[in-house]
Amino acid sequence: MEEIRLQKYMAECGVASRRKCEEYIQNGNVKVNGVVETALGTKINVEKDIVEVFDKVIGKENKVYILLNKPVGYVTTVNDEKGRSTVMELLKDVKEKVVPVGRLDMYTSGLLLLSNDGEFIYKVTHPKHETTKTYIAKTRGIPTEKDIEKLKTGVVIDGYTTSPAKVEILLKDKKNDISRIWIQIHEGRNRQVRKMCEAVGLSVIALKREGVGNLTCEGLEKGSYRHLTEEEVKEILENN
Ligand code: URA
Repeated sequence: MEEIRLQKYMAECGVASRRKCEEYIQNGNVKVNGVVETALGTKINVEKDIVEVFDKVIGKENKVYILLNKPVGYVTTVNDEKGRSTVMELLKDVKEKVVPVGRLDMYTSGLLLLSNDGEFIYKVTHPKHETTKTYIAKTRGIPTEKDIEKLKTGVVIDGYTTSPAKVEILLKDKKNDISRIWIQIHEGRNRQVRKMCEAVGLSVIALKREGVGNLTCEGLEKGSYRHLTEEEVKEILENN
């Protein structure tokens, strides 16, 4: 049976950081099987022992991985202080405390992952793992070959040069001065695609995230979601 230090177990259950959990233990806020435990070295049996923090039983949640087809008009936060609709409102039967994996702007639609697995979140969001994010941007303005080359090699946004990207023009509507551009990046800076387009003089009218790694929204209505399969999760976790 799995034995684990009390503060490690508490942190893994999402109570707080390990250091903060140590404080809770030393302050007498933690009970094991109904008895206050103040010693930091205590090991508990994950399957048998009941741990309470501030008189609430804690436990590990199932790991959950959700793929949502986000419509425009929802903010990517758990709570919004301005009272706007959040992506969490679209998850009807998810009891676990999932959080968005990265973020999409309020007016960006498409693929948004949500999870309660820290390792998974890290793999998808940290640029070092190079998980690709694919977007289609509808822009006012038509890029030149030179603009596309700049987007591919890197443009400066907020004083930072973007990493190499894959970019293709899908449509040039010269009459209406509109283009559709396919852009694949593996970073996720704030409003990155909009700012990249702006850096070459294009303003984004609509933006959709088509994919993350090999995942797409195929078969999902706007506003609906599905759980990832075990293989899909494994593929992300084993990437790099
Ligand atoms: N880039 C943006 O500009 N916005 C998004 O929501 C995602 C990527």
